[in-house]
Amino acid sequence: MCGIVGYVGPGCASEFLIEGLHRLEYRGYDSAGIAVQNGSEIGVRKRVGRVSELERLLESNPVTGSFGIGHTRWATHGETSDVNSHPHIGGNGEVVIVHNGVIENYAKLRGQLQTLGYVFRTTTDSEIIAHMICHQWYELVKLGHDPELAETCQTAVERALVTFKGTYGIVAMFREAPGVLIAARVGSPLVIGVGRNEYFLASDASPLVGHTDEVVYLSDNEIAVITTESMELHHRDTGRLEPSIQTLQQESSDTDLGDFDHYMLKEIFEQPEAIENCLRGRIDDDSATAMFGGLNLDPMQLRKIDRIVLTACGTSWHAGLVGEYLLEEFARIPTEVEYASELRYRNPPMTESTMVFAITQSGETADTLAALRECKRKGHQTLAICNVVGSTIAREADGGIYLHAGPEIGVASTKAFTSQVTALILLSLYFGRMRHLSYHAGKRMIRQLRDMPDVIRRTLQCHDAVKEVADRYCNYENFLYLGRLYNFPVALEGALKLKEISYIHAEGYPAAEMKHGPIALVDENTPSVFIVPRGGIYPKVMSNLEEIKARRGPVIAIACEGDDQISELADEVIFVPEVEDFLQPLVTSIPLQILSYHIALQRGCNVDRPRNLAKSVTVE
Ligand code: G6P
Repeated sequence: MCGIVGYVGPGCASEFLIEGLHRLEYRGYDSAGIAVQNGSEIGVRKRVGRVSELERLLESNPVTGSFGIGHTRWATHGETSDVNSHPHIGGNGEVVIVHNGVIENYAKLRGQLQTLGYVFRTTTDSEIIAHMICHQWYELVKLGHDPELAETCQTAVERALVTFKGTYGIVAMFREAPGVLIAARVGSPLVIGVGRNEYFLASDASPLVGHTDEVVYLSDNEIAVITTESMELHHRDTGRLEPSIQTLQQESSDTDLGDFDHYMLKEIFEQPEAIENCLRGRIDDDSATAMFGGLNLDPMQLRKIDRIVLTACGTSWHAGLVGEYLLEEFARIPTEVEYASELRYRNPPMTESTMVFAITQSGETADTLAALRECKRKGHQTLAICNVVGSTIAREADGGIYLHAGPEIGVASTKAFTSQVTALILLSLYFGRMRHLSYHAGKRMIRQLRDMPDVIRRTLQCHDAVKEVADRYCNYENFLYLGRLYNFPVALEGALKLKEISYIHAEGYPAAEMKHGPIALVDENTPSVFIVPRGGIYPKVMSNLEEIKARRGPVIAIACEGDDQISELADEVIFVPEVEDFLQPLVTSIPLQILSYHIALQRGCNVDRPRNLAKSVTVE
């Protein structure tokens, strides 16, 4: 949510800043801007709309220089407009900042700064950061501090930070101190790339790929002082720190579109490999179980776990629901799934042996991070199922499982979902084999899991058939998504996908429960997408389908290859390979992803950058 970039070095700042903003655009695309120091001036260019709009502005009104900062915005406070775009200017241009996060006490601080004579040009919370840093800098200069020293800039930022309540990733530059960038974070990610005689800054590592593979992740309450000569890290409480430089393992080809028109479609088609990567090295054939390198708990501790809480947001929460069914069925451990935004403020009773698992693609979702911290504070073991290596949640959890799905750029999550489900299947196998699951049952699960990448390759062959259905149904304004057991979370996820990228109202429901309300919505204008693969309760779901047909509701069924019965009832059938119940979400979610993709395309929506959404939600 909001992307930040920064550059200090001998190169052309605006080139890196613009390229970096393009790579971070998935974090927000309401507006974009850059500030570049040119001699004794800081040139600020910002514009509402995509980074491409900013590029157009720069063509007619360029900024040159080799130090600068940039920002792509997902608006929280203040409408999307040119003036509200970042960077923001403090005082009379002495300080320029970019900010990701929310300053909760901004109204009070704004009043105080106005009384001191600061003039506000925007309706954002972020502008107070610029003025407050500027104010502190003025005070220091009045006391005789050298205005050009990086140390003065650092102290000004430190003093300003004390006044803020909320979350922030901030980068500030100072007109009188060319080449100095001060970066600080509480709650919003920042990573520094260490190059040869140059430093890069970004909200996540993607803009750094191809520029350097040495990175330093900033932790909460840390400040980085970056100059042309050096980079220093300071902690609010403990002072100067030795930076821990890590190696970035990401290739620039990971973020290329290849032959695809959109990241979403590319990522849908990457699912067989993503699942293969998630399984790689995690199957122990001899013991018929899974193995994980990073749980950081010994078998004795793991055996004592008597309850699991899975916490997440959005699509990851849906994966958590599948996880609940899996863990209870195979490991027999009572499991609950909590919205992270609720868990962070709730106080549910948790035993000493409750283990908390955060599920998150980005590892940066503010609510998930807060819920994890709250549970950690209470002394619970916290683990994470996470995709982005080195993300805040991955670093703060006691241990966890990386998905290895590769970068997910499309705002609507696809391959992260199926990879999360795969990780949860492995986890339930692992816990199951420690408890009630027999060797033979473990072997059987492993055999089936190993087949999944190929099964998913076959599933993807439904693409053209799904596209035809999408073409026929793209003009409906309401959809129901219905499924039972393992396919209930899939119904929720299918409905979410459609809402997210095509702006059509869609509701996911347990197929039988729809009789208690949503059935009132059913008429010839409300299609129901029924997930009805053969398996445990196939006949029951078929009865629910009949109930919809009896009320003239159009039905699109996701059913198993070779199911002749379904074609007589449903208006449309999309066939997928047959797998056991617990593996169905990996298969049945795929046609739903493709359906929402093509419906959105038909309606002229931007599938990779849907309105109002952001890939990584780093504000509460
Ligand atoms: C945003 C994204 C969703 C994602 C959710 C949780 O809303 O648009 O696709 O599922 O955040 O993100 P996380 O990175 O924690 O999985």
